[in-house]
Amino acid sequence: MTTFEAIVGLLYLGSAITFVLGLHMMRAPSTARTGNLVSAVGMAVAVVATAAWVATSDRYHVTAWGWIALLVGAALGAAGGVWGAKGVHMTAMPQMVSLFNAVGGGAAAVVAYVEMMRIVGELEIGADLTVPVGLDVLIGAVTFSGSLIAASKLQGWVSGAPITFPGSRVASLGSAAVGLAGVVWLVADPSLWALIVVAIGGLGFGILLTLPIGGADMPVVVSLLNAFTGLAVAMAGFVVGNSILIIAGALVGASGSILTKLMADAMNRSIVAIMVGGFGTGDAAGAAEVGAGAEVRRADVDDVALLLAYAQKVIIVPGYGLAAAQAQREAGELSKALVAQGIDVLFAIHPVAGRMPGHMNVLLAEADVPYDQLREMDDVNPEFETCDLALVIGANDVTNPAARRNGNPISGMPILDVDKARQIVVIKRSLGHGYAGLDNELYANPKTGMLFADAKKGLSALIAALKEYAA
Ligand code: TAP
Repeated sequence: MTTFEAIVGLLYLGSAITFVLGLHMMRAPSTARTGNLVSAVGMAVAVVATAAWVATSDRYHVTAWGWIALLVGAALGAAGGVWGAKGVHMTAMPQMVSLFNAVGGGAAAVVAYVEMMRIVGELEIGADLTVPVGLDVLIGAVTFSGSLIAASKLQGWVSGAPITFPGSRVASLGSAAVGLAGVVWLVADPSLWALIVVAIGGLGFGILLTLPIGGADMPVVVSLLNAFTGLAVAMAGFVVGNSILIIAGALVGASGSILTKLMADAMNRSIVAIMVGGFGTGDAAGAAEVGAGAEVRRADVDDVALLLAYAQKVIIVPGYGLAAAQAQREAGELSKALVAQGIDVLFAIHPVAGRMPGHMNVLLAEADVPYDQLREMDDVNPEFETCDLALVIGANDVTNPAARRNGNPISGMPILDVDKARQIVVIKRSLGHGYAGLDNELYANPKTGMLFADAKKGLSALIAALKEYAA
């Protein structure tokens, strides 16, 4: 090993440490931003070290045009990333994550394909190369097509409902079998044709894996695809012999897998069921009708302010509507006003509330809500029975008692036990559905008052009304 290679190795080690440290810091909202920054610095070091390694290695002979292409590609990618990340609305973040998964998995697959093109026919190719190449292209292709379908569903370009057709499960398993058969062929007789079969099987499986996912189950599949991106990148690291790529990919794969398991547990789903498709496919018939004509009790701002003023314990249940209305500061302000009056206030956080993992935690951290007021679902559920008022702000599916019955898209999903509170107030604009497209029978509960308003406007009005009571 030359001194230069040793230096690159040390820089990679430093980068790997920052990735692990960064991940560790991302466990708590208070350190998450710094953790992100620490890992980003490590990644910048890894990129520079890799460029130096490529420039000096005997393995690659990059021409001047090659360097120009690399630099222009990197500049365009970086500009696109910064522009996308700065411009994206918080509510569109899951689509963005899905797109990043798609480009990550797609890029990893292309790396293996190009490497194979470079060496096929020239050398005796062993299984030590064909196995990672095959798996890289297979997993990368699944991630690419699956993430594009997921992003289109989240964006509303493709129906968010489960899309199935007769024989869709067989087609899904068949495409996975084609991809795996392609890998076996590639290992037995390395050729670009075998790799193309792997890619076709993978692309088909990605599409057929994601199309039947519907209702509330999309978060599980998005985090599964995120884990796949990591695995594809790790395989690409084996293909090009780059240790930091293997480490970074393995970390994403491992953390993504843990997140997938947590999300699947939170939704009471099995990961195998996702892989073979066709879950979350119950129909809306299993849910009670609370459509436009249903009997619900309206509440106005003064009614709700009065309930709040006389409460001793209030649980605020934030959901996607809070994010859509960007009403987190108002929610924080309301909580502060209540606490100032001696009222015990908790925020109930459902693991899939909103549109991305940790969505509510991020929003409430932005509004400086103290962490000790945030309670995860399992901790807060026993508290509802003793709470005077559950104030639901823009949450829907995560409160829907239909989940306790069979035959609908959210059957079996644990929910926040809002219906056990003594009084319930729901702030949302209409009786409109949530992500799973179901009526919510909580709204017809005799204990529930509906305050029909945009979350931001409704909360501002409530804060003003509370101040009047206090004056
Ligand atoms: P949802 O069930 O999606 O309901 C959100 C509600 O917010 C809607 O019913 C809507 O009703 C209301 N809303 C929208 N804009 C509003 C505004 N400006 N002011 C007040 N209310 C507004 O939300 P949830 O309870 O948070 O559940 C999340 C759902 O998304 C679950 O089904 C989950 O599986 C799914 N999902 C989650 C993720 C992750 S990882 N968290 C990712 C993808 C999908 P109105 O139109 O009547 O106002």
